[in-house]
Formats: sequence, C-alpha cells, structure tokens
Amino acid sequence: MKNTVIEQLATVLDGTLSVQEIEDMLEKPKFEQLGDIAFPCFLLAKKYRKSPHLIAEEISQQIAKEGFEKIEVLGGYINFFYDKVTFANAVITKVLKERDQYGAKEETGKQIVIDYSSPNIAKPFSMGHLRSTVIGQALANIAEKNGDKAIRINHLGDWGTQFGKLIVAYKKWGSKELVEASPIEELLKLYVKFHEVADDALNDEARAAFKMLENGDSESLQLWQWFREESIKEFMTLYDLMNIQFDSFAGEAFYNDKMPSVVEELEKKGLLVESDGADVVELENMPPCLIKKKDGATLYATRDLAAAFYRMKNYQPKAIYYVVGNEQSLHFNQWIQVVEKMGYEWAKSLHHVPFGMMLKDGKKMSTRKGKVVLLANVLEEVIEMVKQNIEEKNPNLENKEEVAKAVGVGAVIFHDLKNFRLNDIEFSLQEMLNFEGETGPYVQYTFARIQSILEKQPFKENRSYILEVNDYEWPIYTQLVEFPTIVEKAYEHADPSLVAKFALKLARTFNKYYGNTKILESDDFLNGRLALCESVAIVLKESLRLLGIETPKSM
Ligand code: ARG
Repeated sequence: MKNTVIEQLATVLDGTLSVQEIEDMLEKPKFEQLGDIAFPCFLLAKKYRKSPHLIAEEISQQIAKEGFEKIEVLGGYINFFYDKVTFANAVITKVLKERDQYGAKEETGKQIVIDYSSPNIAKPFSMGHLRSTVIGQALANIAEKNGDKAIRINHLGDWGTQFGKLIVAYKKWGSKELVEASPIEELLKLYVKFHEVADDALNDEARAAFKMLENGDSESLQLWQWFREESIKEFMTLYDLMNIQFDSFAGEAFYNDKMPSVVEELEKKGLLVESDGADVVELENMPPCLIKKKDGATLYATRDLAAAFYRMKNYQPKAIYYVVGNEQSLHFNQWIQVVEKMGYEWAKSLHHVPFGMMLKDGKKMSTRKGKVVLLANVLEEVIEMVKQNIEEKNPNLENKEEVAKAVGVGAVIFHDLKNFRLNDIEFSLQEMLNFEGETGPYVQYTFARIQSILEKQPFKENRSYILEVNDYEWPIYTQLVEFPTIVEKAYEHADPSLVAKFALKLARTFNKYYGNTKILESDDFLNGRLALCESVAIVLKESLRLLGIETPKSM
C-alpha cells in the first residue's frame, strides 16, 4: 500500500523528487483520524514558492483514488486513508506468500562480525555473559534477516595474567579429580585462594608462570589447555540448552602470535610511548591505552587490537559488533582510538554494543566470593518451574521435556530482550514466567493458541478467502505490515527489543481479537479469519526466532 502511495506520488511529481526521496518524506500521522500515511508538502512549497496547502491540493487532485478510502489535504499534508479491505488483502497476501521470508531483505553479500558471549576460562559464566549471549545471538539473527551474513565469534577470555596465578595455585593446592568433577567451581576456588594468600613473592611467581606460558613452556601450556577444555565443556552445556551457535571460538590466546606485528606497527608509526617502563599509546580525552606491561606481557587491549586486524583481513566485514557490558566502554573507546590513530579508515566500523546490568533486588548480581551461581542451574530451575506448571495445567501434553525447555529458555531470553539493552534489568523468575505478563511464554502461548485453532480448522490455502475488517481486525493488519520496518530498525539501532515489543503487541492485539470473535463460525469469512490467524502465527514465530526463542505447537 505504501508502495502505491509512492508510485502515485512519483507519477504525479514526474521526476521532481526521486522515489527514495518520496519514501523518506512519508510520515505516519500521529493520530488515526489523520489517515494511514501522510506526505508533507513543505519542501515542494519552498521549491515552487507556493503555499504548502496549495501544492498539496494540486497533487492530491491528480492522484488516482483507487485503493484509498479517501485522500485529504490538511495543513500542508496530503493524508492518505487506505481502503481497509484492499490494505488487509495486500498484507495477508504478502505474508502468506513470503511466509518465514516475510520481512527478509535480499542478500547483500556483505558480512558482519558479531563478538558475543565471550566468557572467561576458569571463571563462572556471569549474568553479563548471559546478556551478551542473548543480545548477540539476536543481533546475528537480525543481521541475517537484513541480508548480511553474520560471523558469530566467541572471543573466549582464555589468556592473561590470571592464568599465571591459576597455574601456581593449581600446582600448590589443586586436585585433578576435583577439577574434572566440577571444573569452573574448583578452578574458581583456586583462584580465590590465590588472592587470599597472595603476597609479593607469590605474585612474582604468578607473573613468572604467565611469562613461561607466553613463552610456550610445554608443561604450562598443557595445564592451560586442560583448564580451557574443561571450562568449554561446561559452557557448552549452557549453549546447547539455549541453542546458541558460534562460527568461531577463537579466543584471546588465538591472537598470541598476531600481536607482535601490531606492536611493531605502533612502534613504526611512532605511537608507542614509554610510561613507567610500560608501553602505552597516548590518547585524546581519555587515559592512555596500555599495550605492553613492564615485564613485556601483553594485555586485553593488545589482544583486541590484534583480533580486529585479523578479523578485518580474514572476513572483510562491513562492521564488527562487540556485545559487551557498558562497564567496558572505556576499554573499547581506548583501543578503537588506537586504530584510528594508526590511520585506518575501518576504525569507524568497530562498534561497541554496550548493555546494562542484571540486578537482583536492585543490586548487581555478582558471583559471591567463591560461591558460584551457575547459570546452567538457574536455567534448570526455570525449566523445572515450567514443567510443574505443565503438569498442573496440561498433564497430557506430548514432549513435555522439550516444551518445558523451550518455554523456560524462552522466558529467560525474552525477559532480557524486551528491555532496551542499555537499561539495567531486574532478574525475577516470577516475572519472566508470568503467562499473562509481558513475557516470552505469553507470546509463545499466543502462537500455540493459534495452532490449536488451525488444527481444528486448517486454513485452506487453495481456496479463496474474504477478509473482514472490523475494529478488532484492523490493528492486526496495520501491525503485521510494520514487521519489515521493525526488522530493519532493530538492525539499524542494534536493538532487539524492538522485535520483542513488536511481538508482544501483536500477541496482545490478537488475543483481544480472539476474545471478541467467533473465529471458527462457519460463515463466508471463515477462511479469511483463518488466513489472518495463519499470518499472525507466521509473524509471531518469525519474531521469536529472531530473538532466539522457539515456538512449541502446544504448551
Ligand atoms: N572475556 C571478556 C569478559 O568477560 C569479554 C570479551 C568481550 N570481547 C572482546 N573482544 N573484548 O569481560
């Protein structure tokens, strides 16, 4: 319908404005009484030195009225009122034809790297990592819906001075059996103990141990490798549970042999300055970026620099997104400015995509000293709660386990993604599982409700259908038509919450319609109503898929 408006305007304006210009100028009126879409004539008024109202009048008179209920001129705007039935038909035809491709853009042939999740070896998977995981996964899905290829990278924190400490602690107090039984918990205990007893001598020992690791000492490497493998095993349980995928697990250690060339280049370009024995790059408006410590050990930022160079060369992406909490903003600002100073144009395509904290009772949810809140356990708990709910309400349901998993995980993901990422969010199991609230289960339930309608009376694809457009149906059509724009905006602003909010609203609108309509009544509009149901189901499913959430057929 919007295209009809654009075409019509383009014909009437006959080259005065390009199709793109017309499209950009079109506005959605603030009030329904002002029509479905409006074209402002102020720009043209300036050009032709006529009043906007007069221009609007002239244009509107030349527009073919077909497909519109009416076209009105008001205050320099041409307000288009779509013919509701024509509009409804256009939407439903499109959704049913394109199905899960509805809202998808053509392939661009471009790649985007998304760096997300990225937990630290031998440390618990934190709430921050959970946020990064779900936001990153959604962004990758949204990128692909927009036609780009997403390269999903888990930049594991598998290198750094902490491994020196860990090696020392393990050699002093560690037990192989304990670590194998519960790797992250045990390794964390060792790490905590190290800090409890560490004095200057022990710290020196740890520094020396890390140095040996960096120099490729085989015993140290073996230990490190083992810590890494055991930790990854534990992370994998979580990823499997949540259906999270990566194209690469190239973590910080992967860049060990790729740092010297970056450091050399910094030196050659005269950017490296000595400060207290360490090598730093001085920056504008922020503290210097530390590249090499006094003892020659490299740092987190050095590895990020090397990683950026590697990714740019290897994938030639149009951008790299770093989905990392906002407490690391300084880190990203610093090393990205270093790339700028090196004179690389592509520094502009490196984007920190920050997010807020996960709070519990208003406080930061951190891993208490030595006591690990294992996320896998939290998820198991949520899934267990869903299972109990199913036992109470729908004991005969097939695949209870699978459904409970999909709903539990969906609840956790949606609870995160419905908020704009920079907001802090309060972790609340009750809230995320509320089937009536603004939750994943609510949207999933709406989808399942439609499936049960369509099971009783399938939509007959090959039969014609007539659409009714009453007050309950109209908002469904206008929302369905928004989906492609939402997908586009979500990518433009790296904001999956737009998709989550859209899904919630569509589910609400559908449920209102459901509560006020005898959908299965056999009258002339039956197949039309089923077409509507089918379309809503397609778009809800696709919205949730973008967020990384499954849609069980019944629950
Ligand atoms: N491992 C880091 C942490 O847990 C996050 C890494 C984010 N990605 C990056 N390229 N710096 O804090």
